[in-house]
Amino acid sequence: MWLCKFALASDSFPGGEARFLRVQCEIKIAAPCGHADTIALPQSFGAARSTVANEELRSHFFLTAGLTMAKDISTKLIHDNYVPPAGYKAVPPGVFKGSTVLFPNAATVRERVKAFGLRDGYSYGLYGTPTTYTLEQRLCALEGARHCLLGPSGQAAIALVNLGLLSVGDELLLPSNVYGPALRHARTTLPPLGITHQCYDPMDPADLERKLTSRTKLVWMEAPGSITMEFPDLRKLIAIAKNKGAVVALDNTWGAGIAFKPFELGVDISVHALTKYPSGGADVLMGSVTTNDDALHDRLRIAYLDLGMGVGANDVELVLRGLPTMEARYHLHDATARDLASWLAAQPAILKVLHPALEGSPGHEHWATHCSLAAGLFSVLVDDAYTSSHVDSFCDQLGLFGIGLSWGGPMSLVMPYDLPSIRDGAGRYAGHLVRFSIGLESADDLREDLARALRGSFGG
Ligand SMILES: Cc1ncc(COP(=O)(O)O)c(C=O)c1O
Repeated sequence: MWLCKFALASDSFPGGEARFLRVQCEIKIAAPCGHADTIALPQSFGAARSTVANEELRSHFFLTAGLTMAKDISTKLIHDNYVPPAGYKAVPPGVFKGSTVLFPNAATVRERVKAFGLRDGYSYGLYGTPTTYTLEQRLCALEGARHCLLGPSGQAAIALVNLGLLSVGDELLLPSNVYGPALRHARTTLPPLGITHQCYDPMDPADLERKLTSRTKLVWMEAPGSITMEFPDLRKLIAIAKNKGAVVALDNTWGAGIAFKPFELGVDISVHALTKYPSGGADVLMGSVTTNDDALHDRLRIAYLDLGMGVGANDVELVLRGLPTMEARYHLHDATARDLASWLAAQPAILKVLHPALEGSPGHEHWATHCSLAAGLFSVLVDDAYTSSHVDSFCDQLGLFGIGLSWGGPMSLVMPYDLPSIRDGAGRYAGHLVRFSIGLESADDLREDLARALRGSFGG
């Protein structure tokens, strides 16, 4: 006889698994299910003893029992008898993978089908795993929110909000300095669905007020705006939009849940490109949508299911790994970026530095009343006495700055932009715009690199 002892709380082991075992393995149950039941297995199942210590190990147990029936290596390799070490606990959470979620018996899956896609249990890998739920919970804690959905990129999270909340006849408002692909989405994907958009000047609350109509269902905000870094009077904009009954969604990628708290300001939805500071490694693409509003979450959750949004466990693991160090990294990004931005402001070739924490930057006064910190992102306007070839040469001569998109990673990045081609109206400035994402390198090394490239390309 092979004895298998269960030490499970009776409410966590209501008998379903025991029925499954009986069917699969013809186990004779020696005692009714309950706390610390003993189940006797036939000798043919092997000499091994298995102790199922807690609920997490139940599934491993029934797979182990199944293994004893398998003869072929092909089956044995699938029905692995791995059991995690009992009593094991470590700092990082476990990483759980799976497209298929296994159910202990048919009755349980029949019951669960009624709740597929609800986030109170497990149904299918796409609908959540312990690993994705762990990240969602941590992001809720970061944001002070109740609900979170994870998407495959920040852009996917933005699109999810639009597609989940808008329908034919609706209009959305975007700040004129909105993240470029968000504007493209409003210009390309949404119009055929009967959804229109307008851009408002985020630095002019009256402009937002003028553009809000009964058709405006969603107002996006970004603080600061992409590329040109204007920090709006968020409190005022939120109050205006909510007063007209619109849902307010904020792209909170820059603030990262650290520089300011959007839900305390009254936003309904906060979106992150977790690709940036939460990951911190420049190695993963992911986005999140958090909210405290149950009804909004429900609408977003349905669109989420319909669009087949999901994230892989390996990527979630990377973000979970990045989160504990995010605040410390954010402080360092901020300190180095402010140091270099102030230094660049004094360089002859630079017309202006666009960094919300620097006096004279557009919206600095709003940054000062909303924020305690700033991200490591800023732009400069190079005197248009120089040509774009000079600017390209400056970027090329930088040794410690990678040339490329994105931000929030360990390596500093530089990116030249052709501002007139990406911006209408508000947020257009004279000069050549170059954006920097300051990484975690030494400020002295970066300054030296910048000084050398400035001399090499602009002289002086
Ligand atoms: C402000 C902002 N929001 C959203 C995104 C989109 O994030 P992702 O690259 O993960 O799609 C970006 C990317 O650069 C961004 O800068």
